[in-house]
Amino acid sequence: METRFELTEQDYRYLFENASDAMWVHDMRGNLLDGNKAFEKLSGYAIEEWTGINVTQLLSDESLVLAEEVRRKLLNGEELEQSYEQRLVTKGGATRIVKMTTSPVIINGKVRGFQHVARDITEEKQLQENMRSYVQQVTRVQEDERKRLARGLHDDVSPSLLLLIQRLDAITSSTKPRLPTSLKNKLEDLHNQALEALENLRRCAQDLRPRIIDDLGLVAALEWMAENLTKEYGIDIKVEVVGVERDLPDEVQLLLFRIAQEALTNIRRHAEASRAWITLEFGEDKTVLTVKDNGKGFKLPQRMGDLASMGKLGLAGMQERAQLIKGNLTLQSELGKGTTVIVEVPTE
Ligand SMILES: Nc1ncnc2c1ncn2[C@@H]1O[C@H](COP(=O)(O)OP(=O)(O)OP(=O)(O)O)[C@@H](O)[C@H]1O
Ligand SMILES: [Mg+2]
Repeated sequence: METRFELTEQDYRYLFENASDAMWVHDMRGNLLDGNKAFEKLSGYAIEEWTGINVTQLLSDESLVLAEEVRRKLLNGEELEQSYEQRLVTKGGATRIVKMTTSPVIINGKVRGFQHVARDITEEKQLQENMRSYVQQVTRVQEDERKRLARGLHDDVSPSLLLLIQRLDAITSSTKPRLPTSLKNKLEDLHNQALEALENLRRCAQDLRPRIIDDLGLVAALEWMAENLTKEYGIDIKVEVVGVERDLPDEVQLLLFRIAQEALTNIRRHAEASRAWITLEFGEDKTVLTVKDNGKGFKLPQRMGDLASMGKLGLAGMQERAQLIKGNLTLQSELGKGTTVIVEVPTE
């Protein structure tokens, strides 16, 4: 049988002192009253130095704005999202990123100060940042590679194939010497095969890197892609531009195009849709790309992060690409109704 027991003041003190999260308390003026070992470690200030230290010393101008907002919301009883991310300046001048919660210290019904619990997430953040820049570089290298391959196919392989076709053409259509019919038929066959190969080659090059996006920009490229899909698969696709079209940075254009391309591939492969709509909306502070279909829809995963681990690289890739341009991707899908992919990219 377990017996209930009460923790003593000393026990609480022990918990406070040795918690792995930093904790500190200050009065209404920001004078530091108490803190634990983790706080010492985080801030770089030793306990003996605390008297006379004001917590604003831990804040940069930017952090101060956030701290004041938190204080105001807590005092006014407004809703505050906890925990929140904050940047602290240590004694040595370094910046640490923390995830923290703040609550008022209430004594006799009056707010007398604030207490904070914070976890240092600087390393985690850095790792995330490194990961992102790694993905960014891989995506760039991949695009460069595609561009190079597409150029090679277009500028070197295509012309030699074209020349071959022309020469075959010249032989079969020449009357001197007149060729035996069987040989002529064979040559014509070869001519047609070469034509087909050229057609396929051009399509490959276009898929790798549509020149149209470099030459005429995103809207033209979206229209071109929609037209192709309509022609080849009979899905009726409308492209609409809303607002005043604005020149987007090359990388944004390319990545939005890639997202639309992946979304359309999914529509073609999975949706069984008869219609689709691509909308590009130029707002003042953001650009929004929407790709919508009237197909069968599907059940969305619980978390977007699960996509990659489920081997769904298409949707995961779309999300990665959106993040590379600081954008945000939203998926909506309803069984029997269709699917919508929305990417919002803030204006630089
Ligand atoms: N527009 C859509 N309509 C219906 N189902 C869709 C649509 N888009 C995606 N899906 C469903 O979501 C799944 C995940 O899509 P995702 O693009 O990530 O992978 P995939 O298309 O199966 O493979 P790939 O990695 O080659 O793209 C698809 O297998 C399909 O079941
Ligand atoms: Mg896919």
